[in-house]
Amino acid sequence: MKHILLSLGMAATAVTAWGAETLTSPDGKMKMEFDLVAGGIPQYSLSLDGKQIIAPSRLGFKLLKVGDLTDGFKVLSVDTASVDETWKPVWGEESEIRNNYKEMKVALQQPSTKHRMDIRFRIFNDGLGFRYEFPQQKKLAHFTIEDEITEFAMTGDHEAYWIPADYETQEYDYTRSRLSEIRENMHEAWTHHNSWEGLVSPTGVQTALMMKTDDGTYINLHEAALVDYPAMHLELNDTTNVFKALLNPDADGYMAVMHTDCVTPWRTVIASKDARDILASRITLNLNDPCKIEDTSWIKPMKYVGVWWEMITGKSKWSYTNDLPNVHIDRPEDYLTVKPHGRHGATTENVKRYIDFAAEHGFDGVLVEGWNIGWEDWSNRFKDEVFDFVTPYPDFNLPEIREYAKAKGVEMIMHHETSSSIRNYERRMDEAYKFMKDNGYNAVKSGYVGFILPRGSKHYSQWSVNHYQYAVEKAADYKIMVNAHEAVRPTGLCRTWPNLIGNESARGTEYQAFGGSKPSHTTILPFTRLIGGPMDYTPGIFEMDISKINPKNKSWVNTTLANQLSLYVTMSSPLQMAADFPENYERFMDAFQFIKDVALDWDKSWYLEAEPMEYLTVARKEKGADRWFVGGTNGETPREAVVDFSFLPKGKYKVTVYRDGKDAHYRNNPQSYVVETKTVTNKSKMKVYTAAGGGFAMTVLPEEK
Ligand code: NOJ
Ligand code: CA
Repeated sequence: MKHILLSLGMAATAVTAWGAETLTSPDGKMKMEFDLVAGGIPQYSLSLDGKQIIAPSRLGFKLLKVGDLTDGFKVLSVDTASVDETWKPVWGEESEIRNNYKEMKVALQQPSTKHRMDIRFRIFNDGLGFRYEFPQQKKLAHFTIEDEITEFAMTGDHEAYWIPADYETQEYDYTRSRLSEIRENMHEAWTHHNSWEGLVSPTGVQTALMMKTDDGTYINLHEAALVDYPAMHLELNDTTNVFKALLNPDADGYMAVMHTDCVTPWRTVIASKDARDILASRITLNLNDPCKIEDTSWIKPMKYVGVWWEMITGKSKWSYTNDLPNVHIDRPEDYLTVKPHGRHGATTENVKRYIDFAAEHGFDGVLVEGWNIGWEDWSNRFKDEVFDFVTPYPDFNLPEIREYAKAKGVEMIMHHETSSSIRNYERRMDEAYKFMKDNGYNAVKSGYVGFILPRGSKHYSQWSVNHYQYAVEKAADYKIMVNAHEAVRPTGLCRTWPNLIGNESARGTEYQAFGGSKPSHTTILPFTRLIGGPMDYTPGIFEMDISKINPKNKSWVNTTLANQLSLYVTMSSPLQMAADFPENYERFMDAFQFIKDVALDWDKSWYLEAEPMEYLTVARKEKGADRWFVGGTNGETPREAVVDFSFLPKGKYKVTVYRDGKDAHYRNNPQSYVVETKTVTNKSKMKVYTAAGGGFAMTVLPEEK
């Protein structure tokens, strides 16, 4: 930008002559332009290799009462910076992450109101992040956002992989369509979830949104560092292909209340001609603050089993009795007088069976759901006092289980279903966390099923977002790791708070027992949900016919067994469950070996092949060990994956391959698989057949000399 000093009459006045300002990525390929147009309207655009991928798009806000931050701006100053650093995450897909970007902060002022609004842009080789910053100011000490008008103007009618915008759930199957076809597919996409009522717009979609242009550019829109602000959906104008931010309102109908100085989350655009770069991008993590936990030695990746799938499939129950009128969480003694229904899953005996299995096969933890009183009447009833988080059912002998697990070297994982009564959870949180620590629990799976209490709050509003954050930070005080289900989708906050070792926040394996998910589901999640952080997807289902578990449940798991193994690599997470029953693993011990062996934390990852909603192949090196694991997840169309072993150092390696049989198919022959061993070097390329809904996994070890 050029600052020109002009002399006007007798007084010397500083006037800024404004021209578009550009910011170019370190490798020079990604370029963004910022400009004030037609009366001071801020807008930006983005191009890759000289081709626009975001056409000029507006920036700003509509505010309640105090005048909008949409136009009439002038530039006060422009500051630039350039950063190239590496940092070490506590856990993750790599042990060192490079953070390399060019930055430009544009300080804006509205002369008519004296309001200040700055926009900070960071451009990386693989994309752009920008956020709004509001310095502390008298004229705008606090304000209420009615609407964020940030736009992402697409340059064509791209193919998109999307789920409907919804203020209450993220647990949808993905639809693939042109942008112009979102509206006509919305109803069908929405009925794929079918138990909620939160659909918000006929053209609204959730982030992270993945797209592909006709000339093969992959574009991903999401956000980073979502703190004290509502989650952003995207609303499409389907005649112009322009997306606009669609924030999740609070109970009062407004989007956010801001107190200066403050910042918004980063809005992110990741783009490349190569789909693998989207998976390799670290923009989301890099835009989050460094770790705020000083001593992280207590944060440990975990592989676990649990008393869970039996309730999800309907074989057993979370609750203890059907005698609902006669039990109340304020009167635990009630439970001693009522008749149990006999199908309670979390019994001491059953839990011990899982502890034995975990100990025998080297698992770190055992999760138990339905251990605490209150499940007789828990969901969607706007019940305030629904769980107390500290009182076990009479047939769950907590001290006995605690000592049994301890003796066997297994950690118990706590479960806090809140039933979305955030009021109740916050009131009881200290007591609940303290109870955990007193009983040797270091990790909690929390859950937010049903509508939020207080009534009227939505799942991804500023208020709810603040709660999820509060729960994670308070857990850190207690040295507790958190795996939150149904909480807002992650935005890289695990960099700052690595005790957030898991989130669900998308359609997980549970839906395979609720009617099934599309066979391609796990070939799109790494491009969407996982952009923000790992998912507690709970893979490892070996018995696909759910009616064999519960004759009343006709659901079918729409993947092959080898596909289930692949997910431990393609859906990287420091927290991985082996979700099926011990007895199902005992039927397929040679395949189960992979789940026992696979690592949870990595030195490095290589994305060997990728196409959204079709397939992905990923290789990873275990952190601090000479062991490599490869996973290939396939969608609906059978194909031959190619594993290029050039990621290996020199030498000979023994590869154990777990792959689909030639006759495997997710629907009619999911348990057809082959386990075989081969020898490779870093010059080898291996073709591996993957069936419909199939996949493969590999363990790669140096050959003994
Ligand atoms: C939904 C969660 O995703 C699931 O894992 C859990 O078992 C139930 N809620 C009950 O809390
Ligand atoms: Ca869920």
